[in-house]
Amino acid sequence: MLISLTVISKNKYMIKETMLAARQYKAGGPIKLEQINIPEPRRGEVLIRMDSSPINPSDLSFISGKYGSPGRFPVTPGFEGSGTVVAHGGGILPGLRHGKRVACSPKPGSDGTWAEYIVTSAAQCVPLPRNIDAELGSMLLINPMSVHCMLDMSLKGKHRAIVNTAASSSLGKMLIRLVHSRNIPMINVVRSEKTQRDLRYLGAAHVLNSSEPDFQEKLSELIKELKATIFFDAVGGMTASQIIEAAPENGCIVHYANLSEDLVNYNPRTILRKNISLEGFQLGNYLNRKSLFYKMKLTIRVRKFMQSFKDIQIHSRFPLSKINEATNIYRNEMGSGKVLISMKTDMN
Ligand SMILES: NC(=O)c1ccc[n+]([C@@H]2O[C@H](COP(=O)([O-])OP(=O)(O)OC[C@H]3O[C@@H](n4cnc5c(N)ncnc54)[C@H](OP(=O)(O)O)[C@@H]3O)[C@@H](O)[C@H]2O)c1
Repeated sequence: MLISLTVISKNKYMIKETMLAARQYKAGGPIKLEQINIPEPRRGEVLIRMDSSPINPSDLSFISGKYGSPGRFPVTPGFEGSGTVVAHGGGILPGLRHGKRVACSPKPGSDGTWAEYIVTSAAQCVPLPRNIDAELGSMLLINPMSVHCMLDMSLKGKHRAIVNTAASSSLGKMLIRLVHSRNIPMINVVRSEKTQRDLRYLGAAHVLNSSEPDFQEKLSELIKELKATIFFDAVGGMTASQIIEAAPENGCIVHYANLSEDLVNYNPRTILRKNISLEGFQLGNYLNRKSLFYKMKLTIRVRKFMQSFKDIQIHSRFPLSKINEATNIYRNEMGSGKVLISMKTDMN
């Protein structure tokens, strides 16, 4: 009742009591569409009427049960999206966000963005600049934040050059742009000739194709030439093994995904001999270790970055009611651009 009153007075439309949401009842189980109660925001939280949400590789891991348990079922998947704050549960930041179009992500362990409404912490919302529409805005939280954190890790470790794999991803392209603006050399590793051409066209100076037979030699030579010492790997498997082999003394390997789903094979002696460090980067965990000041500054940097970012390739759009079709298409055609879920189509 409280929610309905707030919404009617601020936004002049009536909120429904139930909403359509994608629900999963067990790890790796099917995604069902259900009408469930719209959640109520508590103090510090906001209720967002969702506009759009992308399907990301992390969503595929989540729904296949490989991401780690959400801790409870049923659960609504979806790690990011955009929408409008239509109600809040009290607090200064929630009040400031009220009525704003925002990019948002769910609180850890809470229901996600593949629903008509979500409740999340006001701190998990970044107001969208006027020139960013809902679709673009829905993809401008996790990847932009991640690339800024990756840049910070590189700067903090005084790394002179960076290597990134799965470099033709949306994140990879953002990293190219960010790192270029700081004049840091970067070796981009892709897996096909086409994406190698695409990245060169985008202005990337160093792009290697891991499918070429002499990839390992080319990688080692370029790492030496550019003095690369930090290696961001999203692929795992053979590619990660080759990177560990090519890494110089004191190299730092940072795994941030496992797109190949394969295990990494390395000789522990290589790690010992070269004093290589192996780390994992997961945005949520990384930010949990950071101060509120860092997070506030990061939000400001990301918002500025958003204003200049317009070129994320979109493959197709689906209404929430076609979520299963949408995830299948993204799974099979990942390299062809993002698949977006539009919540507006299902709403009336
Ligand atoms: N750890 C974190 O906090 C964090 C945060 C954000 C993103 N990520 C990760 O960053 C990666 C990119 O995310 P995104 O949203 O930018 O993805 P995206 O735009 O949807 O692109 C996916 C990319 O993955 C590549 N790919 C898929 N399977 C592959 C494989 N087996 N070997 C090599 N490349 C493969 C595709 O390459 P092709 O073009 O060749 O098909 C495509 O470029 C994902 O793995 C995601 O989980 C991690």
